[in-house]
Amino acid sequence: MSAPLLKIGLAGFGNVGAGVFKNIEKNRHLLQERTGQDIVVSKIAVRDASKARTVELPAELVTTNLDDLVTDDSIDMVVELIGGIDRAFELVKAALENGKAVVTGNKALLAERGQELFAIAEANGRPIYYEAAVAGGIPIIKTVQESLIGNHIQSVVGIINGTCNYILTRMTEAGLDYPEALQEAMNLGYAEADPTLDVNGWDAAHKAVILASLSYGCWVPCDQINVEGIERVRIEDIEFAQKLGYAIKLLAVIQLHEKSGAIEVRVQPSLIGEDHILASVKGVFNAILVQGDVVGETLFYGSGAGQDPTSSSVIADIADAGEKIEVKDGSGFVTHGLYGEPLPIEETVSKYYLRVEAEDRPGVLARIATVLGENEIGILSVIQPEDHDEETAPIVLMLHYAPFGVVRNAIETIGTMDCIREEPVLLRVEDLG
Ligand code: HSE
Repeated sequence: MSAPLLKIGLAGFGNVGAGVFKNIEKNRHLLQERTGQDIVVSKIAVRDASKARTVELPAELVTTNLDDLVTDDSIDMVVELIGGIDRAFELVKAALENGKAVVTGNKALLAERGQELFAIAEANGRPIYYEAAVAGGIPIIKTVQESLIGNHIQSVVGIINGTCNYILTRMTEAGLDYPEALQEAMNLGYAEADPTLDVNGWDAAHKAVILASLSYGCWVPCDQINVEGIERVRIEDIEFAQKLGYAIKLLAVIQLHEKSGAIEVRVQPSLIGEDHILASVKGVFNAILVQGDVVGETLFYGSGAGQDPTSSSVIADIADAGEKIEVKDGSGFVTHGLYGEPLPIEETVSKYYLRVEAEDRPGVLARIATVLGENEIGILSVIQPEDHDEETAPIVLMLHYAPFGVVRNAIETIGTMDCIREEPVLLRVEDLG
């Protein structure tokens, strides 16, 4: 007897959409053996059917109308890979209301409007799966949701933007400046269509919101996260960090403060010890450390972007969602239960790296130290290299643990001093144990 068909309506045939189509075709028999269903893409919605593509678009399946995926009763599941928020929201909502399961890789959609969509999914008894939204090919969503179900998650710390990790790696290892490294990442197809979201930290922040929601059942509003990108990291920061025994990585930090129950979520370029395992994660790879109260520390590593790794996650979701087609079950990936409030950004505490470009004259360092002292911020160490311009000198200060709000105020004051020539660069220093 032939296996029952599972019909997929695919929205988007960009890098990932094309990979999903290609790899479902490639492993169709394997998937059938393992799932008991014959998974086929039966319709593909694209904006422009005439565009040149690396994977051939089968003309007989194409529509340029997204509604065709939703109104076609034979389609069991909509796979949303169009990106963006508003059109994607309308598509996912309509698909759920028309009784279809949904798979999406759209982190911005989930971070901004996930809470609304999960309510719609529950009301309609249809699931939403979204493994590909976080860390490309690494099965981190399913891990946190299912494999670590017996744990209170204490922290999740990760490198979850491949483009930024690629750029920082090339700056560190090949001495490229930031624009050159960004161009390389774009040429290789790692960056989003608009790389701003990668380099300004928001791609990672959207993923962090999703990981926080699964770990703590707490949808942290996007305006309550401290998000900084890598645009202002210079080669000299990487070199100073190396001299001090650190590497610079764009890190997402999600952690529970057990006493208060507050959830800390932030994304920023951070100094981490050069011997720490996350410092060895290079190029477009992602890695995520999850600390659970039962399991202890676990590490997940793999390709965080790219056509094949990301489509591997989408296909796994299709297989999972396929099991729920006959059952009226709106769960999909859901949060475990609400227990936490976001920790205000100002109250997040870490050590810091501060670089200022200052006039090279007596008294400047003392003035900077005075502002820090008045704000009760301790100085751990100071570097001022002797070989610098005649007029300005970089001064690097490593600062002791302090609340971010206090440090930010002090840096604003320092930035307005007449002896300071550029906006100071402030990076977090993470104590990862
Ligand atoms: N552009 C993302 C990254 C991949 O560089 O990690 C998709 O989230």
